[in-house]
Amino acid sequence: MKLNPSSVRLKLTMEIKEYVLQEKERIKAEVASMSEAPVLSIITVGHNPASESYVRGKKKDSAEVGITAIQTQFEEDVTEEEVLSLIRKQNADPSITGILVQLPVPKHISEKHINETIAPEKDVDGFVLGSKYICCTPKGIVDYLAADGFDFTGKNAVVLGRSDIVGKPMARLLLNKNCNVTVLHSKTKEEDRRMYLKNADLIVVAIGKEAFIDHTYELKPTAWLVDVGINKGEDGHLHGDAEPNLPIAKQTPVPGGVGLLTRLALLKNLMEAKKQ
Ligand code: GUN
Repeated sequence: MKLNPSSVRLKLTMEIKEYVLQEKERIKAEVASMSEAPVLSIITVGHNPASESYVRGKKKDSAEVGITAIQTQFEEDVTEEEVLSLIRKQNADPSITGILVQLPVPKHISEKHINETIAPEKDVDGFVLGSKYICCTPKGIVDYLAADGFDFTGKNAVVLGRSDIVGKPMARLLLNKNCNVTVLHSKTKEEDRRMYLKNADLIVVAIGKEAFIDHTYELKPTAWLVDVGINKGEDGHLHGDAEPNLPIAKQTPVPGGVGLLTRLALLKNLMEAKKQ
């Protein structure tokens, strides 16, 4: 049967949703077998609507698998010291399994200071230098690709974007999986980007620009593309960094794609933290 583009999109959305659902069932059973459930501390500062939506998602996921999530909400004018002092208190509190401070925080609070303060064994986001855990977005992506049968060894992987929380850790993970990894970024020339993408077996795009990869790119029909972008379009809807329905083997949808995988990886990091 020949699928039309909209049914292809629906099919892939279902695939990630089904995978996440299955994994959550597995985690839920594991939590139920523990003598005490992991506890996630979520620290928020101010009222950024996007952050509030992400935090709602994290709390919902936690509740679904039996993990306790407690949120401390600071107002916009809280001092950096007040936030750091709560982190230090929770670092020393054995009843707290993992701590995350939802980013971004207001400018007068340093993300660097926050990351330096969270204890590496409680940094379930995987942001801190020397964290015991893998950054959630790259971990979520690699686990999903592996579960879906992507054979990493010897494949040409192209990562677009070099951020500390996606591009760089993604490239390192793919290298560990024996891919040939190329990292492209905002200063890469367009003709070079086209040349690298033409030979890519796996493309991970995290640039933050709607339709950055469009139908004018020549891609391998066997390529897989993972879209990390979440861009609010002029139509008010969320769009990825790649145009939907590219003529390739697999493309993750936005929304309903990498966001779900990132949230799942957070639950997995928490389970790991609890077992340590
Ligand atoms: N802001 C956007 N994504 C994230 C995330 O994964 N973790 C935290 N702490 N803040 C975020």
